[in-house]
Amino acid sequence: MVSLVNNARLRRHFQQRLLSWYDRDRRQLPWREDRNPYHIWVSEIMLQQTRVAAVQGRYRRFLQRFPNVEKLAAARESSVLAAWSGLGYYRRARMMHAAARIIVKQHAGRLPVSSSKLFTLPGIGRYTAAAIASIAFDEPTAAVDGNVERVIGRLAGTNLRGEDLWQTAQKLLAQENPGNFNQALMELGATICLPRRPRCTVCPVFHVCRTRSVLPMHKPFSRQKKEAVHYALHCQNDLTFLVKRPGDISLMPEMWELPQIESAAGAAPWLTLRHSITATDFRITVSKIQVRPTAGGRWVSRRQLARMPLTGLARKILRAANVI
Ligand code: ADE
Repeated sequence: MVSLVNNARLRRHFQQRLLSWYDRDRRQLPWREDRNPYHIWVSEIMLQQTRVAAVQGRYRRFLQRFPNVEKLAAARESSVLAAWSGLGYYRRARMMHAAARIIVKQHAGRLPVSSSKLFTLPGIGRYTAAAIASIAFDEPTAAVDGNVERVIGRLAGTNLRGEDLWQTAQKLLAQENPGNFNQALMELGATICLPRRPRCTVCPVFHVCRTRSVLPMHKPFSRQKKEAVHYALHCQNDLTFLVKRPGDISLMPEMWELPQIESAAGAAPWLTLRHSITATDFRITVSKIQVRPTAGGRWVSRRQLARMPLTGLARKILRAANVI
């Protein structure tokens, strides 16, 4: 991308086209309504590994529950996990909670304003630090996520990786409006420069793009594992029997779910569904049967369910059963 990166006039033209397109055509998203650093932080953590559509509904509810960093820091971890329910990748919520406590204790409740300081907090990597610092504090630092990587690769006509990619993004960055510029590249990747079928005919920067279609992929396609899991749904009046996941496992420790059983009991399960997390596609069956209450489990009322950190799958099943 010799011309676009090194030619100041072309670069300027590219930045202006992209920024005015963003001003005109961007989606109205709740985290774009203000530049409160805490709000931007929450949205960026939620948007890691989770689609905009899934985040939209939960973002406001989370902020109603924890309207500022002090409230988040003072909350119990189980309440934070409960509010995170359905977003998945719960480690993000735990790290954000830990970071909130550090911000209150060591930074007087204010988010650090530079990407290098933000980067020292739990759960904030290079991308997130740059996104918060540029959007909330106008720091001129490029933020490269998966969408931006694809857009820059196509503009350049070659897939860039690692430091090359970050440096190219930094050279392209509009210095006077870095927050909007970073979001404009993300937005272009999310709405126009799509992975499989880019909408080049409506792209605002088509004229400077070296690819104008799809680049061959470097990454090998990763195959999802498939796994069958069976659960029992045991309800008695207002109570449902649930078990707590162990604290020493990596995936969703200490969250509550239905008890697992060896195989789908009886002839036909009451519910079958598919559920994907990380690299596994689960085929889930649920049987309405009685289980023997075991250690690590307990009877939970409907009212208590609303405040418990349930796994996303447990929530899905309990909704299907009209328990919540
Ligand atoms: N993904 C991550 N951050 C985003 C943002 N601010 N806008 C849209 N998509 C995003």
